Amino acid sequence: MSHLEWDESLCIGVYAIDKQHMKLVELVDEFLEAVARGRGDDITEEIIARLREYTVRHFHDEESYMEEIHYPARGEHHAAHRELARSVKLFQRDLYKRRDVSVDVLRHFLKKWLISHILDCDMKIGEWVRKEEEKKKIKAGEKEVPTQAEQQAENEALSESPEAEEDES
Ligand SMILES: [Fe+2]
Repeated sequence: MSHLEWDESLCIGVYAIDKQHMKLVELVDEFLEAVARGRGDDITEEIIARLREYTVRHFHDEESYMEEIHYPARGEHHAAHRELARSVKLFQRDLYKRRDVSVDVLRHFLKKWLISHILDCDMKIGEWVRKEEEKKKIKAGEKEVPTQAEQQAENEALSESPEAEEDES
């Protein structure tokens, strides 16, 4: 069975969140391994219960962090968390009903459930934090030009006309 493993591509660049994501990946992998080895339902149910418990804690911590930093997209991110919590709850209910859920189906669901969220939603938190840090550095005069694109825009503006507008996309 291929393992679900943590790798650098899942790193959002915020230490506390990355640490919890690592733990989540570990729990998902542990769960998939238990199912693959055909361990008793009580064990797989115990692991998925732990996974849900840890997920609740993680969502809570991540949401507190977004509040703390005034992350602008926190509203939609909260909604995405509610949806994820709901889908894992429904999946857990299915699992109780149908004892023959295959490892592949589980792996596909959990991978999509966790990895897609990290890559699509959580990654944006890290990107936003880095942009804000850049802005602070510029404000503090520690950095003059934030990106290559802005440097290029500035160079073009200087060479063309003094009124040329800078492209600050
Ligand atoms: Fe999240």
